[in-house]
Amino acid sequence: MVEDLNITPGLIRKKTYEELLPQMQALIADETDLIANLANVAAALKETFGFFWIGFYLKKERELVLGPFQGPVACTRIQKGKGVCGTVWQEKHTLIVPDVEKFPGHIACSSLSKSEIVVPGMKNGEVALVLDIDSEKLNDFDETDKVYLEKIMKLIEQKL
Ligand code: SME
Repeated sequence: MVEDLNITPGLIRKKTYEELLPQMQALIADETDLIANLANVAAALKETFGFFWIGFYLKKERELVLGPFQGPVACTRIQKGKGVCGTVWQEKHTLIVPDVEKFPGHIACSSLSKSEIVVPGMKNGEVALVLDIDSEKLNDFDETDKVYLEKIMKLIEQKL
């Protein structure tokens, strides 16, 4: 595996994702343990972008349960259809929330979180986990984040 990320500072976010993606692939290529890989993916995203909170929720029976993350402590269990994560579980597609206060039922783990993106990871047509990223800035996520975070999730799906 790679020992250090090598990311050029100051690039636009799309270029940064392009630098990060092959390194992310190398980071998880030789490891089969899912939790170890999710931990490194969360850490790599935190180190690269500095987002406020980055983490995974894993589907376990009838709930999403908190998995590896970087950032402040967070709520541990989310029901299907609840909050942004539970809605993504139900709808099976990425959601970008420019202003969390305007998302009905948003689960506020921290009042500092202002915008959010949640990307599902699928196994056999069902959501197996979600990647949740929170920003302290309003409207911090767009189509570029969706495209590249979905590519990162595809790498993870290959390990499920
Ligand atoms: N805001 C999420 C809950 C998880 S935290 O942001 C870490 C939601 O509404 O699903």
